[in-house]
Amino acid sequence: MKTRITEMLGIKYPIVCGGMMWLGTAELASAVSNAGGLGIITALTQPTPEDLAKEIKRCREMTDKPFAANLTFTPRPKARPYEEYAQVIADSGLKIVETAGNNPEPFVAIFKKAGMKIIHKCTSVRHGLKAEKLGCDAISMDGFECAGHPGEDDTPNFILLPAAASKLKIPMLASGGVGDGRSLVAALALGAEGVNMGTRFMATKEAPMHDNVKQAILAGDERGTALIVRKFRNTSRVYRNAVANKILEVERQEGSTFEDIYELVRGAGNQNVYQTGNIDGGTWSAGMVMGLINDIPTCKELVERMVAEAEEIIEKRLTGMLRR
Ligand SMILES: Cc1cc2nc3c(=O)[nH]c(=O)nc-3n(C[C@H](O)[C@H](O)[C@H](O)COP(=O)(O)O)c2cc1C
Repeated sequence: MKTRITEMLGIKYPIVCGGMMWLGTAELASAVSNAGGLGIITALTQPTPEDLAKEIKRCREMTDKPFAANLTFTPRPKARPYEEYAQVIADSGLKIVETAGNNPEPFVAIFKKAGMKIIHKCTSVRHGLKAEKLGCDAISMDGFECAGHPGEDDTPNFILLPAAASKLKIPMLASGGVGDGRSLVAALALGAEGVNMGTRFMATKEAPMHDNVKQAILAGDERGTALIVRKFRNTSRVYRNAVANKILEVERQEGSTFEDIYELVRGAGNQNVYQTGNIDGGTWSAGMVMGLINDIPTCKELVERMVAEAEEIIEKRLTGMLRR
């Protein structure tokens, strides 16, 4: 397959594995890149900028294909030394960076100076246009369906993607709700030049997490997620488990504050889930696309199957519908 995204990023297939906290390690990133997609090392998963440099080096030993780093800015501005992480990414020789979570403006110059392509993740047309104006090279557009942070506008990809495609000049990845060749074709039809997936890549052999979590994704369906932290305008779509239900209960209480849920939502919980396999051990991101996930393939099997399915849909099903 050839799109503006495959050309820009130098990859075989227009399929990207988005940054995933605790899971975006060299194992998963190299597996996706070796499969012909774009794998991503999640910077903040590494405890220090020095560890990130080592992880990028380790990934380079595992693949000779392009891969990227993700830098996610959390709402707490001083939470991590972002400048230092950004500098490590810029100095690493990587050619692609995925930014997310906030306005990437302070870091655009650093990455551009290093000759990098910047993919910025957004959840609205207005933020996509802003990123384009700042000099980003591509947008990863996360619809309401997505795992993690869907924003506060609640616009699903059936609307968000064509609305954004009509206005953006730079190419766009469809993110959120993508799980198979059908979603890939739909994303291309709606104006995207490729797809970005998170949850689907969690249920692969190479995803570095306990098998219990992968089995929970297989058993879950499209109704198995919950939107937490809505009340404090930092909505997060997570797997609906006991902890998510408890958070929702506290949020419903009149006068409850973020401090009342802080211990339940903080990141340490999900790392614990992935390591121990206790799916009720904390909150962990998962998307509605769980309803389309029924197996645990290797990344190569997944990517090749999606592309084969997409090509067949385009060549046979859709072409067969044309009245000639
Ligand atoms: C477990 C998990 C952790 C994630 N962590 C991050 C993150 O740290 N930074 C980020 O930009 N996106 C993160 N995401 C979002 C994904 O990169 C991607 O945008 C999203 O999963 C797409 O929706 P989907 O799960 O329906 O494919 C995460 C997603 C998952 C499932």
